[in-house]
Amino acid sequence: MYYSDEIVEEIRAKNDIVDVVSGYVKLQKKGGNHWGLCPFHNEKSPSFSVSGSKQMYHCFGCGAGGNVFTFVMNYENYTFPEAIKLLADRAGVQLPEVEDSAQERQKQNKRARLLEVNKEAAKFFYYQLRSPQGEIGRNYMEKRRLTEETLQHFGLGYAGKSGAQLVQYLKQKGFADEEIKEAGLASYSERYGLTSQFWNRVMFPIQDVQHRVIGFGGRVMGDGEPKYLNSPETPVFDKRRNLYGLNYARTAKAGNIILCEGYMDVIALHQAGFTQAVASLGTAFTSEQASLLHRYTENVLLAYDSDGAGVKAALRGIGILRESGLVGKIINMKPYKDPDEFIKNLGRDAFQERIDGAENSFFFEVRILAENYNMNDPEEKTRFHREIAKKLCAFAEEVERDNYLQAIAEKYFIGIDNLRKLVNSYAAQTGLVKPLERPKTGQAKANAQEENDKRAQRVLLTWICEEPGLYDKIRKYITAKDFTEPLYMQVAEKLFGDLEQSRFNPAGIISMFEDEEEQRQVAQLFNTNLPELSTKQERDKAFHDIILSVKRSSYEFYTAQMGADVNALTRVIEGKKALEELARTHISAD
Ligand code: CTP
Ligand code: MN
Repeated sequence: MYYSDEIVEEIRAKNDIVDVVSGYVKLQKKGGNHWGLCPFHNEKSPSFSVSGSKQMYHCFGCGAGGNVFTFVMNYENYTFPEAIKLLADRAGVQLPEVEDSAQERQKQNKRARLLEVNKEAAKFFYYQLRSPQGEIGRNYMEKRRLTEETLQHFGLGYAGKSGAQLVQYLKQKGFADEEIKEAGLASYSERYGLTSQFWNRVMFPIQDVQHRVIGFGGRVMGDGEPKYLNSPETPVFDKRRNLYGLNYARTAKAGNIILCEGYMDVIALHQAGFTQAVASLGTAFTSEQASLLHRYTENVLLAYDSDGAGVKAALRGIGILRESGLVGKIINMKPYKDPDEFIKNLGRDAFQERIDGAENSFFFEVRILAENYNMNDPEEKTRFHREIAKKLCAFAEEVERDNYLQAIAEKYFIGIDNLRKLVNSYAAQTGLVKPLERPKTGQAKANAQEENDKRAQRVLLTWICEEPGLYDKIRKYITAKDFTEPLYMQVAEKLFGDLEQSRFNPAGIISMFEDEEEQRQVAQLFNTNLPELSTKQERDKAFHDIILSVKRSSYEFYTAQMGADVNALTRVIEGKKALEELARTHISAD
């Protein structure tokens, strides 16, 4: 990991989770916990709990959970180092400089300088727009119906009347010719010396997710060519790995991200309240951008132009989204060209309706495919059916494939059995599709038993976590090795290890795990519903039963391992002894 365990723990300890979460979610104290509406899924009554004593949160609705780092990472869509930074700042903890090699440092310095040049250039354009000579730019923005607030929000600007002005300004700010050139903001010519390609254009600063300006797009105000001029790729401007508008869209929490073609589309959508809109950067959508989106959502809505080029780009985009495991849908923009024009003409409610009615990407593909065939011609119609059958083979899961098959058959009036036969024959030819194996009933039973065992292990860990004093009662019978689920075992090892030394820090345990899914599981582990018990007798019995159940499943687990694992025998002997002793011992859960 990037930072030492000590500093991570210090930052965690100095950021009380109830305080931090309260900054984002309205919480109410009830019992030992604080409750609120879960920010990670839609709900009407609170199932999101934050525990001050455990310094953890857990949602009983959607299963989200973790410690204060997990929360910030999930809420802000931050990486772990980003969350560390935010919380260190919040608590006034000085983060140590990370030691870099001289070469690495030089690279960082150069990047920092390039970001500085871009930032200054953005300032220059911004003030130009507000200067007397920027009037033409202001008029253009007004014509495009952008409000002053929007201009500010996106830092839009005007490049000035000549390409010399920007260069002069940047040099005066102390930047070397070489730096200005390397930032992609100007180039040399024999005749004019160092000049910027950006002049007499309205300027769109392109920001990365941390709101740093990394490049620009500039648009002519009228019909000139090229319509848009973009910064070239530079060490800070990677067009494959950034998306316009993502710095705002990442926290929109709309449950989807809208992917558009143009800067203007993004701006118009944000202005209309759809702050989840992003666009690629004057280049085709890439798989890197798809992975970037996957950090923030599962659902991507394509709002591409309704013309032929837009449809082609959408078909390509769907493929890329699918490969990245994202669900893609297509927003119908007709009768308008793009989202900007749609919003201008029909407004936000109409666009929301289009979002709600977005088309499944497979249906979209088939619909576009259908346009190539004359269905009145039996020969063409047959070819169309064959193409559909081939496409259906791409669904590896039988249930999904059959659901699509039924839907498509109905939509295009194809006999369902005929289509199924066709699909199966293609599937057999290509070997693409194997019929799904049905789970055996014996297997199902084994799974249920495993789930029960895991649950008992979770209950025991939660119980100890709620009442750490009980550890003394179980340490004679239970060790971390009895937790047969690897993640649980790791957690138990740490928790019991701490308790042996009279320490108790469950939220710190979560920090041991870098993977967010693991953090969620650990939080869940400490937040299992405990049985509702009224009498002491019931409590004692339940506690005894849980210990017994954990020990028994451990015993069975290691018995099955004998022969494969040399240590299993020791565990089996120990387990047998403990089980016998447990059978005749009363344990009080107080
Ligand atoms: N683009 C580009 N260079 C061009 C034309 C387009 O880089 N010469 C990129 C820009 O990122 C632009 C996007 O492609 O935002 C979409 O182009 P287009 O659909 O032509 O423009 P719109 O976004 O509709 O822009 P406007 O509404 O200003 O005409
Ligand atoms: Mn447009």
